[in-house]
Amino acid sequence: MESNNMEQKSPESKIPRGGKGAYYIETFGCQMNVRDSETAAGLLETLGYEPSQSKETADLILYNTCCVRDHAEKRVFGNIGALKEQKDENPNLIIGVFGCMMQQKEVAEKLYKRFPFVDMAFGTNLLSRLPSFVENAQSGARTLAIEEDNIQIEDDLPSIRTGKVNAFVNINYGCDNFCTYCIVPYVRGRERSREPQAVVEEVKRLVSEGYSEITLLGQNVNSYGKDLTDASFAELLSLVSGVEGLRRIRFMTSHPKDLSDGMIAAMASLPNVCHHVHLPLQSGSNEILKRMNRRYTREDYLGIVQKLRAAMDDVELTTDIIVGFPGETELDFQDTLDLVERVGFSSAFTFKYSPRKGTRAAVMEDQVPEAIKRERLGRLNALQERKARQNNEPYVGKSGIVHVEDCDTRGEPVCYGKFSNFKMVYFPGQPELVGQYVPVTITGVRKNSLIGQLEDKTHD
Ligand code: SAH
Ligand code: SF4
Ligand code: F3S
Repeated sequence: MESNNMEQKSPESKIPRGGKGAYYIETFGCQMNVRDSETAAGLLETLGYEPSQSKETADLILYNTCCVRDHAEKRVFGNIGALKEQKDENPNLIIGVFGCMMQQKEVAEKLYKRFPFVDMAFGTNLLSRLPSFVENAQSGARTLAIEEDNIQIEDDLPSIRTGKVNAFVNINYGCDNFCTYCIVPYVRGRERSREPQAVVEEVKRLVSEGYSEITLLGQNVNSYGKDLTDASFAELLSLVSGVEGLRRIRFMTSHPKDLSDGMIAAMASLPNVCHHVHLPLQSGSNEILKRMNRRYTREDYLGIVQKLRAAMDDVELTTDIIVGFPGETELDFQDTLDLVERVGFSSAFTFKYSPRKGTRAAVMEDQVPEAIKRERLGRLNALQERKARQNNEPYVGKSGIVHVEDCDTRGEPVCYGKFSNFKMVYFPGQPELVGQYVPVTITGVRKNSLIGQLEDKTHD
């Protein structure tokens, strides 16, 4: 086990700090980080901190960082640099940086050195030790802590949920796939599944707290249980589905190579499992998929799509796509466009390939020039925009149940929420509807969402 924990006195922060105050957490990156920030909030509240309405009024500011692309990293450095002034005005302010970016030793050390006003920098693995790092900071000591080993999953840390109508539930941590472009396995460690019973207990608790919709989270939910005896994602879905009062179960992310027939059957037969799959494609070219170490072909991918649609006629698919991976030719890129054309995703996150230090793709030959990446991204986005609209049009005149997430009351009140299959719907409605499941008829389409009218009869 290698660990790198350093604590040192910071000369300019000797003033003892009060125990209580207001905290503010800024979260970058994916749902895993959102969930970790909820845990950080829970830990801070057990120390006596209360949420702050803004960064400016906070006594403790935490940044939960992401390093999946260069852009994410640059933004964090920029944001933290900008805190210097606030720290000068309020020397009692405690500043902490954690998350995936801080799990990279070199980057954490660079940040810790460059910003002497940062009190604590620690890797994503060490979140459970936040209370002791805060205590250090209160007594004027700085902390730099990175634990490179996988840490035992701590299931029962306190947390403050931020989702209004949907709660995130971790089912597996880390990733074993080592897609050649991806930093996640290096910063999140090996794949570890939670025990099914621990997941079910957490879901029961959430339902008793009033949540009727949850999202099961993992970098690759489909391989859930491979490190346990006798557990699979399909079985977990079935167990969770039995929790009384749970109306919607979502999950992400699905890796095409591990998406089983059993899981498709579970999705199709369990009444509260939502008919939506986030199924990252990454590329439509077999050559590039091979170089990415994705371990499926475009034919495999299309086969899964066909099976999902045969089992559920209302299923919607969303995806992630990278353009400009090393060696990607115009013809490879055409294959991606072709697949996007054929599948008809309801939405897609599209990215320019960003070399990540330590990954295999970062040192591959034939890196694609930035201008070509940009140009391909533009073409892909234009196609996806057209496809998204096309995908929305058949909804006009149809109705479905929306779980209302929020209401914008700045003008005429407009509520919004999702159909079970993840389609976002906007409709005129009052704030009292938030949290309810209501029937809505679709009257029009927007770029990435639907517009509708509330039907007379309200469910629930
Ligand atoms: N576990 C998920 C997603 C992980 S990161 C999966 O297996 O798909 C989210 C998305 O970021 C990825 O799907 C990929 O499209 C993108 N991504 C990851 N590394 C990247 C990189 N180096 N450059 C550009 N995009 C990247
Ligand atoms: Fe990254 Fe691939 Fe793991 Fe997803 S499956 S987190 S893209 S290595
Ligand atoms: Fe970013 Fe870490 Fe998620 S690198 S995408 S926050 S797992």
